[in-house]
Amino acid sequence: MKVGFIGLGNVFPLHLNAVRSLTEVDIVGCHDTESRRLIAAQELGLPAYRELPKLFANKPDIIHVLVPPQHHVRVATFALEQGANCFLEKPAALSLQGVEELISASSLAGKKIAVNHNQLFNPGFLRAVKMIRDRRIGGLEHVHVHYELSLSFGADHFALKDPANMIWELAPHPLSLIYDLLGSVQSVRAQPLGAKDSQTSWRRWQATLACDRGSASCYVSSSASHEDLHMTISGEDGSIYVDLLRGTACALTKHFEMPLADALYTSVRHSMSLLCQSVGSACFAMSRLFTDHQLKDPYNRSLSTSICNFYASLRNGGNPLCDMKHAEAIVQACEMTVQALKKSGNSA
Ligand SMILES: NC(=O)c1ccc[n+]([C@@H]2O[C@H](COP(=O)([O-])OP(=O)(O)OC[C@H]3O[C@@H](n4cnc5c(N)ncnc54)[C@H](O)[C@@H]3O)[C@@H](O)[C@H]2O)c1
Repeated sequence: MKVGFIGLGNVFPLHLNAVRSLTEVDIVGCHDTESRRLIAAQELGLPAYRELPKLFANKPDIIHVLVPPQHHVRVATFALEQGANCFLEKPAALSLQGVEELISASSLAGKKIAVNHNQLFNPGFLRAVKMIRDRRIGGLEHVHVHYELSLSFGADHFALKDPANMIWELAPHPLSLIYDLLGSVQSVRAQPLGAKDSQTSWRRWQATLACDRGSASCYVSSSASHEDLHMTISGEDGSIYVDLLRGTACALTKHFEMPLADALYTSVRHSMSLLCQSVGSACFAMSRLFTDHQLKDPYNRSLSTSICNFYASLRNGGNPLCDMKHAEAIVQACEMTVQALKKSGNSA
């Protein structure tokens, strides 16, 4: 398959590494509006085009759209019209109307579009989904996502141009996990956190959500001094702790009525399970050491699996996991979170 990239900023090297690790893929070009990005791409040995039509003259089958979110709809629509399938970075759009435009452009062109909600492919989350399918914790009741990152953005980055952009930038990750487990978000209550003067930047906030199949909460910070990405999935018969940074998951369920026996059994079982998962991750990392070091951690593995899921849907004719129905629900949940934060600010 012939692949091209539009938008060669922060996230581009991650996509490039993931695509380069695949077989039967030919990178036919890339494009950015900034000269320095084109020069950097040329230095990586890529055909880089200042003029977009030159990229499409190579007839790419797939275009990765990696431009800032305010340009997603326009750039992805153009790519679809030129006959390429689109792998679009999250969020699909900054409004539901934008999502509708993408859906109709995709259907008019007869080409597929999927959105990169890559944490859905985090090895820890995939383990948790399997545990849920195996009925390890019974019916789901509540999901909590803790998303704490230490991010620095360039002064002209999209995320810093408006407080709401901080939500559009980060919230799609926890919201996609919540949507996948509990269905559409019905209502959101949210609150900015931190010192009074920093609350207006929305770099730290929390939300409680009512969803189709249960309740959820999330805590998101982009200015943490350390990184911690985890989630707790609570069910009728137990809970699952997922460490998204390390790609592990363990189920906490009651086995014995005697508290001491239960505590002993549970801690030994968890330690063994985490040890096995960690050894598995270390082996995977070592196997990648001499091939592509970027792909060894759970985040890069999630991105690469997300890309593979879309490419497989093109080869096999099925639906990608993060199709436009999924993307639409996340955009709606982001919009509701922005509204809830605004409301909380007005009432403070
Ligand atoms: N999935 C993830 O974990 C993840 C991580 C980071 C970023 N992202 C997403 O990736 C997208 C890009 O983010 P980023 O941090 O790389 O942004 P960035 O600002 O670092 O890079 C964007 C690039 O797009 C170029 N550009 C802007 N408008 C363009 C246009 N019309 N045509 C061609 N090029 C154009 C800019 O010159 C820049 O080089 C965003 O949607 C962001 O939310 C996702």
